[in-house]
Amino acid sequence: MSISCVSHARTSVQADAVIVFSFSDEKGLKAFAKQLTTDLPHLQPVLSSGDFTGAKLSAVTTYVGSAAKAPRFILVGLGAAADVSVELLRRAAAVGVNRAAALGCTHAALELPSVKGISEYDVAHAMTEGAVLSQYKFTKYKTTDKTKLVKKTTLITAAENLSEARKGSKDAALVAEGVIVARNLASAPNNEIHPQTLASEARSLGRKHGFSVSILDKKKITELKMGGLLGVNKGSARPPVFIIMEHRGGPKGQKPIVLVGKGVTFDTGGISIKPAAGMSDMKGDMHGAATVIGTMVAAANLGLKRNIVGLVPATDNMPDGNAIVPGDILTFMNGKTAEIDNTDAEGRLILADALCYADRYKPECVIDLATLTGACVVALGFETTGMMGTDDDAKQRLTKAGCRTHERVCELPLYEEYEDLISSDVADIKNSGGRWAGTITAGLFLKHFVSYPWVHLDIAGTANHPKGNYYVTRGQTGVGVRMLTDALRNW
Ligand code: BES
Ligand code: MN
Ligand code: ZN
Repeated sequence: MSISCVSHARTSVQADAVIVFSFSDEKGLKAFAKQLTTDLPHLQPVLSSGDFTGAKLSAVTTYVGSAAKAPRFILVGLGAAADVSVELLRRAAAVGVNRAAALGCTHAALELPSVKGISEYDVAHAMTEGAVLSQYKFTKYKTTDKTKLVKKTTLITAAENLSEARKGSKDAALVAEGVIVARNLASAPNNEIHPQTLASEARSLGRKHGFSVSILDKKKITELKMGGLLGVNKGSARPPVFIIMEHRGGPKGQKPIVLVGKGVTFDTGGISIKPAAGMSDMKGDMHGAATVIGTMVAAANLGLKRNIVGLVPATDNMPDGNAIVPGDILTFMNGKTAEIDNTDAEGRLILADALCYADRYKPECVIDLATLTGACVVALGFETTGMMGTDDDAKQRLTKAGCRTHERVCELPLYEEYEDLISSDVADIKNSGGRWAGTITAGLFLKHFVSYPWVHLDIAGTANHPKGNYYVTRGQTGVGVRMLTDALRNW
C-alpha cells in the first residue's frame, strides 16, 4: 500500500472514495453534518434521514455528484468523543478502507479526525496502521485471485498538522512493513519456507533494510554442541540453521536487547505425531522467528538508536527412522540434560540452545517469542499473548507496549512449585510436564537456560487468528512486531 498526506480540501482530492469520520455525540454529529453538507449539498437527505448516527464503527456509503472530485464519501462513526482510543482509530480506518475495498476502490482518501487527547502524530500513526494492515492478504499462490484491495491511501489533514501527520504516517508504514514481512513468512507453506529458505530470506531482508545477518550451519551448530536443535532436527531430511541478525543502532558498548524466535518450520510432532486434522497450521510454527525477523526490519527501517540482536534456531520437526524418541536424553549447549517425554514438545528444546547462545551478548534483556503450547491457546484464546519471565522492568515495558499497540500480554506465574511437573528420574529435567499448567511448565523449562533478565512470550494463540477482525487479518497475524517495536522505541 502506498500512503501520502495532503492538506487539500476534501472536495478536491482525486480518489475513488473519501472516508470521513464523526463522533456520535449530538453536538459532534450536528457539526459534522453541517460542515459536510456545506461542501456537499447532495448529502443533505442522507444526513437528515438519521441513517448515519456516528455509532462506533458504523459505516454509510454516500454518493456526492459533481460537488467533489471523488464520486463517493464513506461516513464512519467513532462513537462518543470521550471514549475514542488509538485502537478505535485503527479499527475505524480499517472499517472505512475495507468498505472502500468491497466497492472495488483502489485509491481511498481518509480524512484524519481531530481527537481531544490524541496527538496528530498518533492519529495519523494509528489510522495508517489500520489502513495498511487491513489490506493484507496472502495471495502469492492464487493464480486467479479476485480479492479487491485498496492499494493507495491519501491522508487528508489541516495544513498546520501536515508535518506531524506525515511523521506519524511514515513511522507507522515502516513498522507495518515489518508486520507484513512476518505475516508473509508465517503464511508461507513448508515447501517454500524451511530452514535454508528462512535463512536466505533473513539474509536478503538484512541487505534490503540494513541489518547484518550471519547463518550458522549444521557443522557450526554441532561444534557449539546445540544438542536440543540437533536432536529435534534428527528426523528431518533438511539440516538445521541458526540465524543471527544484528541492528547496531546504539553506542558501541551498549548491551543489546536480544530477541529469540522459535523457528520450527513445520511441526509434525515427530514420533509423538500430531493428529492429521489441522496439522497444516503447523507451517506457522515459525511465527516466533517471523516476528523476530519482522521486528528487525521495523527497527532498521526506523533507525532505532539501540543495539538489537535477533536469534532464530530453525528446523523441521519430523518423524523418521533417525528421529529422537521418548526416553532419549539430550545435552544442551550449556551441558544441562533433558529427558524427552514427548517429541512434540520440541520448541523448548531448540529455544534452550538459543537462550544459552544469547548469553554471549551480555544482554540487557532477552525476549523470546514462540508458538509454544496448545495450553496457552486454551487459557488465553486468540486475543492475548502469555507472558512469563524473570525481569519485572521488562515485563512492565512489554505490558505497556502491548496496551499501546493493542497486542496485549497477560502474565502467568513461574512459581517454583510447578518444577515438580518437569522433574526427571534420569536427567536434569524432562521436556513435558503433561496436561496441567502446560504453558507454565514450558516457561519453567526455558528458565533453566537463562542467566540474564528474561521474558518469554507464548504466542501460540495470537499468531494465527481463525476469523480475524478489522486490521488483524484472518490467518497469520504478525503479532509481536508492533508491540516489540514500540517497546524498543521507548526502552
Ligand atoms: N507448536 C506446538 C504448540 C501449538 C499448538 C502452537 C497449537 C499453535 C497451536 C508445540 O510444539 C506443541 O506441540 N506443544 C505441545 C506440548 C506438549 C506435548 C507438552 C502441546 O501444546 O500440546
Ligand atoms: Mn510440537
Ligand atoms: Zn511446535
